[in-house]
Amino acid sequence: MRSFLKTKTAIALALTVSAGAAHADGHGGVEVLHWWTSGGEAAALNVLKDDLEGQGVGWTDMPVAGGGGEQAMTVLRARVTAGNAPTAVQGLGFDILDWANQGALANLNDVAAAEGWDDVIPAALQQFAKVDGKWVSAPVNVHSTNWVWANKAVLDANGIAVPTTWEEFTAALDTLKAAGVTPVAHGGQAWQDATVFDAVAMSVLGPDGYKAAFIDLDESALGGDGMKEAFDRMAVIRENVDENFSGRDWNLATAMVINGEAGFQMMGDWAKGEFLNAGKVPGQDFLCFRFPGTSDQVTFNADQFMMFDQGGAVSPEQAKLATAILSPSFQSAFNVVKGSVPARTDVSNEAFDDCGKKGMADLAAAASSGNLFGSMAHGHANPASVKNAIYDVVTAHFNGEYDSETAIVELVDAVSIAK
Ligand code: BGC
Repeated sequence: MRSFLKTKTAIALALTVSAGAAHADGHGGVEVLHWWTSGGEAAALNVLKDDLEGQGVGWTDMPVAGGGGEQAMTVLRARVTAGNAPTAVQGLGFDILDWANQGALANLNDVAAAEGWDDVIPAALQQFAKVDGKWVSAPVNVHSTNWVWANKAVLDANGIAVPTTWEEFTAALDTLKAAGVTPVAHGGQAWQDATVFDAVAMSVLGPDGYKAAFIDLDESALGGDGMKEAFDRMAVIRENVDENFSGRDWNLATAMVINGEAGFQMMGDWAKGEFLNAGKVPGQDFLCFRFPGTSDQVTFNADQFMMFDQGGAVSPEQAKLATAILSPSFQSAFNVVKGSVPARTDVSNEAFDDCGKKGMADLAAAASSGNLFGSMAHGHANPASVKNAIYDVVTAHFNGEYDSETAIVELVDAVSIAK
């Protein structure tokens, strides 16, 4: 109910703001719909705003709060239905393909050709940015979801080394619980539950099993013993969150780790943006490591800006925005702040901190070993209908509505109805 009301308010706001936005567009600006509203996200967005404003392109901001972007996508649908699409919209994976297939996106091929996108944007991203030979969106970054963020002082005080196996991880959770520290900072929202599940499932199923289950939607993988074990591990994690977890925003969960109220958070590397925004230093104040059992794999999601067709060729402002996003200097400056890594393969890692350098190295290694997979939780494994069906089961199980045995039966069922 709460998120429904939030969404209704957001839509009302979107439809009101849009009148002003059309005016701003008329004066040569861009209206940008996005969900980057946390402190770290807003700091990263400012890098883009400043870049554009420096080129004389006005910016009308259309933020829609809600991690993972579900609320933003609801607002987008309302805007498009009202015949008033924003100029540029943050989008993920299959959602981008969906809008492209509906013919809603402008053709960026001229910009892409002039800037050589084909040569520098990795294939894993191109599959979500190019449809039928046409570039329809500008990739901003590559995030990945199988990370753990830890408060170093809390770990040190409790004699905990970085866990590399599930057993070491659960032992660390037990130690923290006994010490009166919340072991896992978590926000009970479906997309956050699914983000944790991305990593947990990968750790149990391995790359082949993850692909079979979430990308190929193979029933025996979705309903197999490995998946049951993944749900069992989610139940262990559920026992290690605090009692106020329900509905909490992801950045507030990150703040619990920053403040030392909690030991760990399993979250994508946008969480790093929150640590940096709070003045924390990787290796000194906080630690980043891959979820135990997934050190060779990467489950990725890439933020892109879809350019909505404004009734003709791509507008000069859209072209400027796209060019700015893919410029190597912007790719470095933005991703250093955001916590993600560049969407181009030719950007130096020099300006990045240790977590960022690790993120870049992990991504390159996973891409060359065949261990790079689209994140189920962040719309890079399946269209929204299937993703949402998986969300429902993961969340119902996390909230104790059914046990792991029932969860795998429900998962097979829900996916087969949705696909
Ligand atoms: C996006 C990130 C964003 C996160 C939390 C993810 O889906 O890719 O850019 O920071 O959601 O809002």
